[in-house]
Amino acid sequence: MEQTVKAILLGAGQRGAQVYGAYALRHPEEIEFVAVAEPDAARRAEFCRDHGISPENAVEDWRELLSRPCMADCAFVCTQDNQHIAPALAALDAGYHVVLEKPISRSTAELAALCERAHSTGRLVTVCHVLRYTPFFSKVKEILDSGVIGQVQSIQQIENVAYWHQAHSFVRGNWRREDETSPMILQKSCHDMDILLWMAGSHCAKVSSFGSLGHFKPENAPAGAPDYCLDGCPAADSCPYNAEHIYLRDTGVHVPVIRKVVSLDDTDEAVREALRRGPYGRCVYHCDNNVVDHQVVNLEFDNGITASFTMCAFTWEGSRTVKIMGTHGQITGDVEENKIRVVRFADGDTQVYHLDGGLEGHSGGDKGFMEDVVRQMRTGGVYAGGTGVDASVESHRIALAAEESRVTGRTINMKDFA
Ligand SMILES: NC(=O)c1ccc[n+]([C@@H]2O[C@H](COP(=O)([O-])OP(=O)(O)OC[C@H]3O[C@@H](n4cnc5c(N)ncnc54)[C@H](O)[C@@H]3O)[C@@H](O)[C@H]2O)c1
Repeated sequence: MEQTVKAILLGAGQRGAQVYGAYALRHPEEIEFVAVAEPDAARRAEFCRDHGISPENAVEDWRELLSRPCMADCAFVCTQDNQHIAPALAALDAGYHVVLEKPISRSTAELAALCERAHSTGRLVTVCHVLRYTPFFSKVKEILDSGVIGQVQSIQQIENVAYWHQAHSFVRGNWRREDETSPMILQKSCHDMDILLWMAGSHCAKVSSFGSLGHFKPENAPAGAPDYCLDGCPAADSCPYNAEHIYLRDTGVHVPVIRKVVSLDDTDEAVREALRRGPYGRCVYHCDNNVVDHQVVNLEFDNGITASFTMCAFTWEGSRTVKIMGTHGQITGDVEENKIRVVRFADGDTQVYHLDGGLEGHSGGDKGFMEDVVRQMRTGGVYAGGTGVDASVESHRIALAAEESRVTGRTINMKDFA
């Protein structure tokens, strides 16, 4: 029987507990969490109960856990955006391989420091770029490598954020202010920069970008809209962002996942109570958000491939759509539908692939990612995994360059980008 990987968790929030923790509960023969650091007492207690962690291995702060002798194969760093780099460096120093939530950091100096430390300690840093592990993008890469569409010339990718997801995470929620977390293009779309790099098979040479916060501003509020949706908003029936509509009615939105964020006790009564005066009950036009709700990025790679990327809040579906244009054919697809269509120009031959993403999150990417982490750990890091730290850092540098371009209006030459 293969070894069960031992892990510690730093930050038992939505990702740490509900995604990676939940995977461990479903696959106990693969991975086991043996310790947790989490300041929120209720979250810590729930994680300990679910994973059978003893009280001495449950602490409030990652610093305390990492000051102890190394007790597992890897450390999952699942704290918030601006709390990634310090625990990641400390975990490497303590002897752990690191599984690191994105974004790594918004500082290019910190990105370089992480690469240096990973190489000098000889430990793996695997950033959770889950898209690479989806059956969808694995298949796209296989098709590209087969050469059936000839030489790729251009790629178009759209990140359809979904109207409710933007409202939940980027207007009311944790990632609404770029000064407190990260610019949207880094936070939400570093995955896309990573996948574009992977598909282009080259380094990025130049980046330009445009975008703004177009809609979620006070001047767009319906007449008479109060600060909280449940305070009798006159636009309650017609507003798609009505909190009651998003969290308390079954409108096809991912209600179970996001309700847990609103209230750990996710019964209707508890969620309604949390919406009355909590952040997720606020009118989307009366929040303190400042991240963009639509942005475009143009990229040119060293091998001449060009790419255009659009991130947009105003979509029904939450998915990525992609079109890859080669000299002998094209690939089109939708990640959420898990459908890929390949057409060969010479004879019009058309292949359609319907993939099975499984029931686990990010179109099967979360599951594929965890399987990869388990494989890395079981080989003691000899198998280095699908995403190395250098590639992850490059994706982050592109996102940061795109943000600089959006703000300054300049085209950024990546070799000059410090
Ligand atoms: N890979 C992906 O596709 C993906 C998707 C969503 C979010 N994320 C990223 O995952 C990260 C976590 O997101 P989340 O939604 O789980 O956030 P969250 O706020 O639910 O979880 C973060 C947890 O860290 C804890 N924490 C804070 N200080 C700590 C400390 N000193 N020591 C230990 N724990 C501490 C918080 O109490 C919280 O429970 C974010 O950076 C986010 O951008 C990645």
